[in-house]
Amino acid sequence: MKLSFISLLLFLQSIFALQIPVYKLIKYEHQGVLYGSQVSSLKLAGAHYKNVEEIQRKMALVHASDLHLTLFHVILANKPGALLIILEENEPEKIRDIELYLGTHRFYFPIFFTFQTLEIMELYEQLYWLKGDGIQFVLNSNVEAEGLRNVTLENYYGFLNDYDEALPTVVLAAHYDSFSIVPELSFGMDSNGSGVIALGEIAKLLKKNLINSKPKYNVLILFNSGGNDNFIGLQRWLDSKAPDLKHAINNIAFALCLDTIGKSEELTFHITRFPRKDETELINLFSGFNRTASKYQISLNYFKKKVDLVDNYIPWGHETFIKKKIVAATLSHLERPANSTLEKNSIYDRKSNINLHILEKNVMFIYEALVRFLDGDHENAQMKVQAKLSSDALGWLKKFSSHSRFPTKIVSGSEFLILFRDYVREALGNNMKLQKFHGSDDVYFDTKVEILNSYKMKSKVLDLYIFLYVVIYLLLLWISVKYVGSIKFITSKKSRHKNFNHQY
Ligand SMILES: *[C@@H]1O[C@H](CO)[C@@H](O)[C@H](O)[C@H]1NC(C)=O
Ligand SMILES: *[C@@H]1O[C@H](CO)[C@@H](O)[C@H](O)[C@H]1NC(C)=O
Ligand SMILES: *[C@@H]1O[C@H](CO)[C@@H](O)[C@H](O)[C@H]1NC(C)=O
Ligand SMILES: *[C@@H]1O[C@H](CO)[C@@H](O)[C@H](O)[C@H]1NC(C)=O
Repeated sequence: MKLSFISLLLFLQSIFALQIPVYKLIKYEHQGVLYGSQVSSLKLAGAHYKNVEEIQRKMALVHASDLHLTLFHVILANKPGALLIILEENEPEKIRDIELYLGTHRFYFPIFFTFQTLEIMELYEQLYWLKGDGIQFVLNSNVEAEGLRNVTLENYYGFLNDYDEALPTVVLAAHYDSFSIVPELSFGMDSNGSGVIALGEIAKLLKKNLINSKPKYNVLILFNSGGNDNFIGLQRWLDSKAPDLKHAINNIAFALCLDTIGKSEELTFHITRFPRKDETELINLFSGFNRTASKYQISLNYFKKKVDLVDNYIPWGHETFIKKKIVAATLSHLERPANSTLEKNSIYDRKSNINLHILEKNVMFIYEALVRFLDGDHENAQMKVQAKLSSDALGWLKKFSSHSRFPTKIVSGSEFLILFRDYVREALGNNMKLQKFHGSDDVYFDTKVEILNSYKMKSKVLDLYIFLYVVIYLLLLWISVKYVGSIKFITSKKSRHKNFNHQY
């Protein structure tokens, strides 16, 4: 008997409930002001956004492909109790505007995202026709109420050669953190996963090359954190008091930051000025890049922007070096610097957002141009490299694309950093060094993937189903007792029960 009732409950649940994995909108504090969605739990009826008069105090569902800023304001004006935005695999047209708005305002109701599935779209459709309280949604959030303050972050760096005090140093950097308005979806594969993979590959290639040549520079590789927090990781690194670093930092010939380079064969050098006539070293560097670009049929552009000392948003990592009077540039496919961290990042920056072939080509291009420069033999550089990403790199790319690198996910001791340390060690070997530092005063609230339960049927229909089920069940029970006899009772009941389920 007990078994039957459990199966009855399971059976009912499978018909009436849908469990939807959802991703919460960011919640963070910047300069003492809270942004994003402040609430996580809910117990509300649902409403399709098109039924505008239904939205109030309900959970409004809207598909991202319909969403634009004006519509968003209409929905807000109707005071929803919660909002669920259904995303599709491909990037919807107006999503960037919405991301920017959601990330820069405060909401006192839960806002969640989910990816569309057949079941969710069916539910969405039903909501449109089924007005009233037809479908209920429940989510009991178990996220930390406390934000993460004063977190410990980590920079990883190391020389590719044995450090030689007599030589100037070339720094190659990429930040490995990522950002978006949905912490669970902050994969940042172009920004800056591509930079991280490229830097790892370039490091391995350069290391081989340095063994066979007499280096004219020390080459330092830096994977920095806090890149979406005004490059605080780079600032801390440049301020490092470690004796081995101090000497090198005071003798940096050039720092190159790698950015979003996995998407386009048009790359832009972001610089603060062109080299002066007497700066032969720099002229050689850029002309080497120019020539290598034409060999690879990459169109290389230059964008000049002065460092804005007043503006508190730092668009590129190289500006942090410039402020320390170190010559530096960022290489990116973005033609213009972004106006804010949110503008630069998107929940749609996923693995599909980068093109492996292009990333591969860009890696080879940068490697070759760097070798021309480092060897000082920019005319006759003989390149004998296999033009392919290593299978390791592909594996790492895959791993990175399944880990969010949002600020709360990359603090000291986090699952991602354990993984990432292995990645860096592969590139730098025993030369790998670690710098721990404290982030800015911004406070981030951690999130998890949560389950939103929806219950499709309201009591009257549900009651009818339960009533019918019980009647038929009792009838079968009566028949089995009466005609089949008590010995076969248990087994026969089970099999009948199964058949019965199938009919539904
Ligand atoms: C952050 O924590 C460190 C020690 O872990 C402490 O030295 C520092 O003062 C703290 N900073 C703030 C702003 O609380
Ligand atoms: C590299 O190319 C750009 C434009 O394509 C040009 O402005 C610049 O002078 C070139 N630099 C060198 C050092 O040849
Ligand atoms: C990627 O990292 C580099 C180096 O830290 C930085 O200059 C660049 O701005 C980053 N890109 C983005 C889009 O955050
Ligand atoms: C930054 O803002 C300016 C002016 O509002 C705009 O023209 C520019 O396109 C923005 N930058 C990007 C990368 O969108």
